[in-house]
Amino acid sequence: MNSVASSHIYDNDQSSIVTAYHSIRDYVKERYPSLTTRKFLAAIVWSIVAVGIFNLIFLPRTSLGRDYRRLHFSALTKDETERLFLKALNEENNAGEQLRQYMKRQHLSGDGDEYVQYTMEQLRQYGLKPYKEVYYTWMTKHVESTVSVFDEQGSLVYSPSLLEVDPVSGVSSQGYHAYSGSGDVTAPYIFVNYGSLDDYRKLRNLGVDLKGKIHIIRTGKVSTALQVEHAESNGAVGVITYMDPSDDGKFTTKNGFEQYPDGPARNTSSVKRDTVLRYSQAPGDPTTIGFPSNRAVKRRKPHNLPKIPSIPMSADKITPILQRIPSSHDLNWTGDIEGFDYSCGPSNFTINLVNHNEAEVVPLKNIMYEIPGLLSEKVILGNHRDSLTMAGAADPGSGTAILLEISRAFGSLIKLGWRPLRTIVVASWDGSAHGMLGSTEYAESHEVDLQAHAIAYINLDAGVTGHNLDIVSNPLLDHFLIGASKNIPFNNYSDTKSLFDYWEESHLGSEKINRLGSGSDFTVFQHHLGIPSCNVGFHGDPNDSLPVNIGSSFDTLDWMERFVDPNYEYHGTMAKYLGFLALSLSEHEVIEYKVEHYAHEIKGYFNDLISIIPSSWWDRDVERGTSMSLAIDQVKYLIEQLLTVSTNFDRTAQLLQEQISVDYPWFQFYIKLRLAMNSKIIGNKAKDIDQMFLTNKGIKGRPWMKHLVFAPDRDTGDDVSLLPSLRESLADGEFDAFIASLQDIASALRRATKRLRL
Ligand SMILES: *[C@@H]1O[C@H](CO)[C@@H](O)[C@H](O)[C@H]1NC(C)=O
Ligand SMILES: *[C@@H]1O[C@H](CO)[C@@H](O)[C@H](O)[C@H]1NC(C)=O
Ligand SMILES: *[C@@H]1O[C@H](CO)[C@@H](O)[C@H](O)[C@H]1NC(C)=O
Ligand SMILES: *[C@@H]1O[C@H](CO)[C@@H](O)[C@H](O)[C@H]1NC(C)=O
Ligand SMILES: *[C@@H]1O[C@H](CO)[C@@H](O)[C@H](O)[C@H]1NC(C)=O
Repeated sequence: MNSVASSHIYDNDQSSIVTAYHSIRDYVKERYPSLTTRKFLAAIVWSIVAVGIFNLIFLPRTSLGRDYRRLHFSALTKDETERLFLKALNEENNAGEQLRQYMKRQHLSGDGDEYVQYTMEQLRQYGLKPYKEVYYTWMTKHVESTVSVFDEQGSLVYSPSLLEVDPVSGVSSQGYHAYSGSGDVTAPYIFVNYGSLDDYRKLRNLGVDLKGKIHIIRTGKVSTALQVEHAESNGAVGVITYMDPSDDGKFTTKNGFEQYPDGPARNTSSVKRDTVLRYSQAPGDPTTIGFPSNRAVKRRKPHNLPKIPSIPMSADKITPILQRIPSSHDLNWTGDIEGFDYSCGPSNFTINLVNHNEAEVVPLKNIMYEIPGLLSEKVILGNHRDSLTMAGAADPGSGTAILLEISRAFGSLIKLGWRPLRTIVVASWDGSAHGMLGSTEYAESHEVDLQAHAIAYINLDAGVTGHNLDIVSNPLLDHFLIGASKNIPFNNYSDTKSLFDYWEESHLGSEKINRLGSGSDFTVFQHHLGIPSCNVGFHGDPNDSLPVNIGSSFDTLDWMERFVDPNYEYHGTMAKYLGFLALSLSEHEVIEYKVEHYAHEIKGYFNDLISIIPSSWWDRDVERGTSMSLAIDQVKYLIEQLLTVSTNFDRTAQLLQEQISVDYPWFQFYIKLRLAMNSKIIGNKAKDIDQMFLTNKGIKGRPWMKHLVFAPDRDTGDDVSLLPSLRESLADGEFDAFIASLQDIASALRRATKRLRL
């Protein structure tokens, strides 16, 4: 419509210019018959040049930064953009209303079209242009589970209801593990604590028979997916998980707190749903690992899934089962279940566990929008929308409300004439609770474009579940995160206290930023594509975290409003913070990662690692003429080289950024051209830097995980493992694999150094 209308006007203009020219010429010819057409034309050209020069002389001096915005017809400067963004969120906070809307509608993974429509409509109202991205993913749908306990004589002694009653609607539903195996198994049972590798080692050392049993595992320390994997590889035929009240810290019934809804202690009837897809191996559709789940995709046999059935139970329903485990070895395991001494068993009783899942291909709907920028790079901001229950106020409702608030503020900037310098992409992922399906399929589908253009992925998940600013990030984004936090007023202490001040006070000198493991949608961006990512939220308080009801029907709006964020101030603060962060990445003319900081971090990880190399390894020859210590020294030398070039690179980037804000007169346009070119060169190098640490063959035993510096911890799933291949080879006592990984690191360091050289 627009282009038709404007070309129409243009045609008109042209013909009216021609008509005007003819009439002026006729008029002049009549009055000055001696004037030839040629002279007349020359006079016109000279007058135009004269007027042009006159104008240029008085043209204001401008900076390249400002020129960029003019070229892009953006009405706002960088400072105005940031100020007006914060203003939009300071004047109004609709996070509460957004969360209430979220809680009114269905939003199970792959479901919830009405909420999809609602979200699209909201985004349109803000002046944005949302669209749906659909992937066809292989998922399981829970049908039914039962648990029955029999005594030695085979009589049924206990058959608990597995229903969890939603405290809001009163509707009850069974808990389940997404992607769990279907099956009907009857076996004696044992208690294996957290199901960590250490716990299993302890049991094996005591000679406990683990095979052919149903393993009961308390949640925590290890991802549910890996707990089930550990059980399966130790011979379990089924798994039941539950949440032990003692893992809730301070807020427990034992410490005198009432259970929710009367108080903050966890309601012992609540059930934690989770996925058992091993996303620390590879997230996303388990039948299309490494490529997108398009409609006509050729699927492979599902990978990274357990075969054995597993279900979650509530603490109160599992208590009689645990109480039937006889006292045996002292394992030093403790907890708050009455009448159970945390022995491992086995029990004299048997459990019949039935779990029935159906596989189906489900269309998942990511909702996306883009605000096109002038420069080719992209900043991506995402949060998942789906949950495993009808509840989900904290996970992911709080993040969803925050994402919509950020979108509202972006919309208000657009209405004021803002156009970002770099494209901003915002995503509401689907299928995340089943194993980050929506984000993974998206990133696998747009891999080439993302690796060529994305400079950062900012992730939100459960945005607010407590009051502690919790940040995990790639080191390249650290200073953006710190910088942005200094610009955000903390809650309503607007002028006196910034988010940064609050952050510092509450961390009291401890590490402020951790590194990325897994458990959320950043996984594919960071670990598969090498795009610097971060995950941010207000989570458990440093000392006394509230029990969070993730995966349970008890993750309610009422809990959020009574115990966590009554005024939605933490939501509002998080919206300001993450939106501002995205703007600071988008609007900063030069991509100013602090690469030196990254190099320093790598140096630290490496030094920590070599301090635990066994002494016997130091004397072994690697190849003819080289030794372990020579190989180590070489990596150390390469790290020093990276440090040197990155110091220079960072300094150049900083100088460039300073020059880009300097005003030049128009006739020095060539300086600005040079600045623009240099900034492009620096940007291209910076954008590639994290990808230099990718290895095509993947890390040890995990071909999909490509990053040599960071990976999800192989043994716990959600924590980070630094220099994973090296660390794991060391843990496995594999000397040759260790040396091979040293060589991979050395090549990556060489690539990075070469790429940063100016
Ligand atoms: C747990 O929640 C239910 C509501 O679903 C409530 O009826 C029950 O009283 C709660 N339990 C305790 C111990 O407060
Ligand atoms: C139990 O823990 C205590 C203290 O943490 C330790 O001294 C003891 O050796 C442990 N016992 C066993 C059997 O692991
Ligand atoms: C369990 O069975 C064993 C023998 O199989 C027996 O010695 C023991 O007393 C039984 N324990 C309980 C609590 O019934
Ligand atoms: C914000 O202001 C309200 C009302 O003035 C007050 O009740 C609330 O405690 C303040 N919030 C914080 C975090 O200080
Ligand atoms: C957490 O506990 C430590 C030690 O008990 C204390 O020094 C610190 O002030 C507490 N932090 C907060 C935020 O309450």
